[in-house]
Amino acid sequence: MKAGIIGTGHYAPEKVLTNADMEKIVDTSDEWIRTRTGIEERRIAHDNEDTSDMAFKAAEQALEEAEITGEDLDLILVATVTPDQPFPTVSCKLQERLGATKAAAMDISAACAGFMYGVITAKQFIETGAYQHVLIIGADKLSKITDWTDRNTCVLFGDGAGAAVMGPVSEDKGVLSFELGADGSGGKHLEQNDDYIFMNGREVFKFAVRQMPESSVHVVEKAGYAKEDVDYLIPHQANIRIMEAARQRLGIEEDRMAVNVNKYGNTSAASIPIALSEGVKNDKIKDNDLVVLVGFGGGLTWGAVALKWGK
Ligand SMILES: CC(C)(COP(=O)(O)OP(=O)(O)OC[C@H]1O[C@@H](n2cnc3c(N)ncnc32)[C@H](O)[C@@H]1OP(=O)(O)O)[C@@H](O)C(=O)NCCC(=O)NCCS
Repeated sequence: MKAGIIGTGHYAPEKVLTNADMEKIVDTSDEWIRTRTGIEERRIAHDNEDTSDMAFKAAEQALEEAEITGEDLDLILVATVTPDQPFPTVSCKLQERLGATKAAAMDISAACAGFMYGVITAKQFIETGAYQHVLIIGADKLSKITDWTDRNTCVLFGDGAGAAVMGPVSEDKGVLSFELGADGSGGKHLEQNDDYIFMNGREVFKFAVRQMPESSVHVVEKAGYAKEDVDYLIPHQANIRIMEAARQRLGIEEDRMAVNVNKYGNTSAASIPIALSEGVKNDKIKDNDLVVLVGFGGGLTWGAVALKWGK
């Protein structure tokens, strides 16, 4: 039995904060932000729009694309570091709102790599035959833990949610290989201190430019393919320079990498599933494509997946 992605969805709040807007908040410039990160604007959730609200919208779209309803779900996994509250979890809130009466529900905390941890957790349940349909959502409202006086971090992040439904697919499709990892010794470089995000940008950058290319190559090789066989690369959208390092290491052309960091900034656990959902909707991802998803985040954590697209 193989586990694959059979539906995707995404949601980003309406409110746009451009680099020009950021210039009015902290001592920065559009030029600095664009050249160092590739970010042009980000979306910010409304005060009364919480993580579960964004997650719900992305989830509805993913269920529709998968042609199932909440009642068909066996498990809901929500990757987030900004839940509405510690408990009840975001996944439990969705269990109710989606009418997922027979689903178990839990949140996963692995920062920006959370969606990768979710996909691999879902794969185990599906491939053992324990569960049929698992909904995985990456959703974060980082704006509520952003220090809007710290130019080192506030220009980087945005809010949003992305979702995927996973289920059994045919033998030649679905997840082919994966890699998950953690290095707690690097946790101090990216953490929530008191109320806000603290980041040592240079250390995180060094870790990420090494880890993303390495993990991408590992999963492709583990799947029995060559680097140039990759049809579409979906890296965590943190910084265009880090993403470029992964693309160049695989040696694939620019149009084979998902890029939306310019529109949304770094949306944490939502970044990979938003890019995945956009890739499906824009026909960038087609049946039988070899797709690589790769992410890294606070913890430190990382994860990558190679999969053959389709049912
Ligand atoms: C944050 C990051 C963009 C900084 O880019 P960089 O090229 O490494 O920048 P440097 O560290 O060389 O330079 C930083 C300088 O720019 C300044 N700076 C930081 N933020 C700035 C901003 N928004 N506007 C203008 N200047 C800024 C700093 O004060 C520092 O000045 P100094 O050298 O006088 O102290 C980069 O380190 C990065 O992307 N790191 C990874 C972050 C990440 O991915 N986090 C999320 C992980 S999930």
